[in-house]
Amino acid sequence: MKDKKVKDKKIPALKKEARAESSIIAALDIGSSKICCFIAEVKNPASIEVIGIGHQASKGVKSGTVIDLRAAETAVAHAVESAELMARHKLQDRPIKSVFINVPGMHTLPHPLSVDVKIAGHEVSEKDVRNALSHSRSVVAHGKEELIHVIPAGYSIDNTRGIREPRGMIGQNLGVNITAITGLAPALRHLSSVASQNNLEIDGFCATPYASGLAASVGDELQLGCTVIDIGGGTTSIGVFFEGKLVYSAAIPVGGQHVTNDLARGLITSIADAERIKTLYGSAHATGIDNGEMIDVPPMGEEEHEQPNYVPRSFITSIIQPRIEETFELVRENIVDSGMGQISGRRVILTGGASQLPGLCDIGQVILNKKIRLGKPRSVKGLAEATGGPAFSTAVGLLVYAAEHADEIPSVASNRSFTLPGPLNSPMLQKVTHWLKENW
Ligand SMILES: Nc1ncnc2c1ncn2[C@@H]1O[C@H](COP(=O)(O)OP(=O)(O)OP(=O)(O)O)[C@@H](O)[C@H]1O
Ligand SMILES: [Mg+2]
Repeated sequence: MKDKKVKDKKIPALKKEARAESSIIAALDIGSSKICCFIAEVKNPASIEVIGIGHQASKGVKSGTVIDLRAAETAVAHAVESAELMARHKLQDRPIKSVFINVPGMHTLPHPLSVDVKIAGHEVSEKDVRNALSHSRSVVAHGKEELIHVIPAGYSIDNTRGIREPRGMIGQNLGVNITAITGLAPALRHLSSVASQNNLEIDGFCATPYASGLAASVGDELQLGCTVIDIGGGTTSIGVFFEGKLVYSAAIPVGGQHVTNDLARGLITSIADAERIKTLYGSAHATGIDNGEMIDVPPMGEEEHEQPNYVPRSFITSIIQPRIEETFELVRENIVDSGMGQISGRRVILTGGASQLPGLCDIGQVILNKKIRLGKPRSVKGLAEATGGPAFSTAVGLLVYAAEHADEIPSVASNRSFTLPGPLNSPMLQKVTHWLKENW
């Protein structure tokens, strides 16, 4: 739970021993197919152990948008309760009070901006950096969007570019390239409402592709530049990373559920049977190994008692393939139209539940003309095999974001009047909560 001792605004840097402290954080991934809550214990340095997991079929969410508040609230309540039950010993039977929540890419807007502030020959101070970052507020269309990330992409002092840490350096002008990501107000309001109906405050919002990228990347991938594509149930989220920083976030409203619906229509069977057939026999392109194999397709409705239909496996592939091709074509269009074509790099990490469809990489590689690999959540402690798959990249990424990138939350980025003692601490969370209260 949050450390109640660390309360004042001015906090000196804590000594090393104090950093061994642990905190409890929680992540809520409100997806179109499933809603899941992960509770984790974070210890310094950056060790994340998942201690509670609850997930269940999503309700009231379609293509990444909350369309029925009551249904979504109930589904969230069940997921949170299950996670709390699993983590009850560490939580000492107390409920969690706050969560980090993902914002689907289609409800986010990236705003790249360059800011210059005068430093007139003195050392760059924390205040100068804060002042520069606070300019990101200027991009927000008030009433329509709210800042959710302030990501400093790189600093310059006078003519020297590529500075990672400007504090303490001397010059006349401090320049900062910032990626400010905003969330669309209606979507944030609905997510806030779902949380508050469950007595949960929001520690921070995180764009879905950002979270998925943080979880599913390995080694230098983000540093070298790559595109993260999270194919979920109702959305395909796109994140572009450049020099380790998120520079673009978007989504298209197509995902695995569209493949299932196509199959249900094409095979004249129920959605549940289409989903089963897709998972067991589906493929995004013909491999040659399905030669002659016949799959039985249960009829639906009044025809339920009739003999099952048998269709060649290649027929199933022929229904799936066009939808997958269309999805990658929409992704390619989105990246090109946004001007990210060059920056998006040559490599792609594909994750999300629907990325498990065999043959997806082959099709994506051809359409996007990039090198693709499948990604699943990086190894954090406490994940079972069933909850360590690509469908859980966003939930794990929310924990990584909370533990390692929480200084990119707007209120913290523009008001870093103290040194953060660890990945998470009460004053920071109080500031975020304060920001939310101010804005909502
Ligand atoms: N083994 C599998 N093969 C193919 N598709 C699969 C497999 N397992 C799950 N899926 C598909 O993954 C999709 C769900 O993915 P995920 O759990 O990532 O979605 P979500 O996060 O709830 O949705 P979104 O991110 O779009 O809001 C479903 O359409 C499901 O059919
Ligand atoms: Mg998802």
